[in-house]
Amino acid sequence: MKITKICCIGAGYVGGPTMAIIAQKCPHIQVTVVDLNAERIAAWNDEDQNNIPIYEPGLSDIVAEARGRNLFFSTDVDKAIDEAQIIFISVNTPTKTYGKGKGMAADLKYIELCARQIAKIAKDDKIVVEKSTLPVRTAEAIKSILDNTGNHVKFQILSNPEFLAEGTAVQDLLNPDRILIGGDPSAEGQEAIQALVEVYSNWVAPEKILTTNVWSSELSKLTANAFLAQRISSINALSELCEKTGADINEVARAIGTDSRIGPKFLKASVGFGGSCFQKDILNLVYIAKSYGLNEVADYWEQVIIMNDHQKKRFANKIVQTLYNTVSDKKIAFLGWAFKKDTNDTRESAAIYVANDLINEHAQIAVYDPKVSHKKVLNDLDYLESRTAEKNANAISSFDSPYEACKDAHAIAVLTEWDEFVHYDWQKIYDSMQKPAFVFDGRNILDKKALETIGFVYQGIGS
Ligand code: NAD
Ligand code: UGA
Repeated sequence: MKITKICCIGAGYVGGPTMAIIAQKCPHIQVTVVDLNAERIAAWNDEDQNNIPIYEPGLSDIVAEARGRNLFFSTDVDKAIDEAQIIFISVNTPTKTYGKGKGMAADLKYIELCARQIAKIAKDDKIVVEKSTLPVRTAEAIKSILDNTGNHVKFQILSNPEFLAEGTAVQDLLNPDRILIGGDPSAEGQEAIQALVEVYSNWVAPEKILTTNVWSSELSKLTANAFLAQRISSINALSELCEKTGADINEVARAIGTDSRIGPKFLKASVGFGGSCFQKDILNLVYIAKSYGLNEVADYWEQVIIMNDHQKKRFANKIVQTLYNTVSDKKIAFLGWAFKKDTNDTRESAAIYVANDLINEHAQIAVYDPKVSHKKVLNDLDYLESRTAEKNANAISSFDSPYEACKDAHAIAVLTEWDEFVHYDWQKIYDSMQKPAFVFDGRNILDKKALETIGFVYQGIGS
């Protein structure tokens, strides 16, 4: 099948960048990204390319190049479904907040809505691609809905999980380690796989395009995130032991990372991992294992989350303890609120939980993040429902300048590893702070020796 029209349902952190790259690399394919969220679509269509809803280095230029040529953002979901040969489902799959599986299972209501919408609209055969991260065997449910509620056209369901990381999405999409496509072993299934392989072949080398059965592909995505998160929890667990023993976690990470079997990546000790996916996907994995009665498997992976929660709590506790066991009415400056650098995404950011713990201790938090608005900071805190919105608003403020955020502070906590933090005038910051001036570097990015020479009391993670 020659693909000329693609539709993607969901214009979020995955749908937007992924489709922008497909449009850029496949000028012969018309790509339409649709979303129910009219505000988000309007932002993608904003004449000023800097106003697109997602901050990703390099993305706005690519959108500007392709938008209106063969890349379109629209709220007309039905029209885009009707016209496309391939429909990507890239909607959110958050952890359930109600009912069976609450707090663990993936909430598939948005996925089901998409399947029902596709079934209702499709008048010719379609390839439906799971781009969202889904529990293993979701394709079965999608197929059942499509086949039982559709207009008797044929559907092929592929799993094509996305492995991009935020902050490096453009590079990850342009040079992926691999593209994974799972499909049905039947001749029709293989034909569908081939159609999608051809799309990616416009810029990805054939040996990097892996094809599997649907279940392997679905499960590989959860597995990849579980392994990545496990590495962070492993290094963070050892960071606590380093703090007790005089070993230095950065040195330990370098020493083990040079073993080619272990490898150097993803061994940075931190205040804890955040982001919309690691926790959600592991909880989902744990839930699936439990649903098959595999309790040891479930417990094994759950420990990754337990350790991460512990790391975030430990960081907040350390601040309180070091500041003479009280932070009441003390200004604590937060450098960074995003869950990692080079993104404006704050979902599950460690900063939210550390701030919440410190506000429980009556601290005054002053945030500086180069890409996160105060509105988002407040929304994140309110979402925890720990106290009233008014109390949150009184306890936390945001600043446009890091120097203003740090002025008169008793301590600075580094929550995100933004590059610019390293290059500040730290003498100027020191001079404006209460003394002793403490720095809690939750990312181990600052120069400990230089800060101590200035007069700071510096504490990193794992040393
Ligand atoms: P997101 O919340 O940023 O975007 C999802 C979008 O889907 C929203 O804009 C929402 O309005 C829209 N939507 C929901 N239901 C809809 C419907 N029925 N019709 C039309 N639009 C609808 O989410 P995201 O971060 O892009 O993640 C999407 C999926 O990709 C998730 O399953 C996630 O686990 C997975 N994933 C995310 C990342 C990442 O870095 N964020 C990476 C890999 C995989
Ligand atoms: C992660 C995976 O890296 C992607 O492959 C995957 O597609 C994506 O999840 C997803 O499914 O959503 P992302 O969450 O965007 O990507 O960013 P990461 O770079 O993985 O960082 C996640 C968190 O771990 C961040 O808070 C980061 O600061 C933290 N981290 C990362 C560490 O604390 N130490 C490290 O060594 C690496």
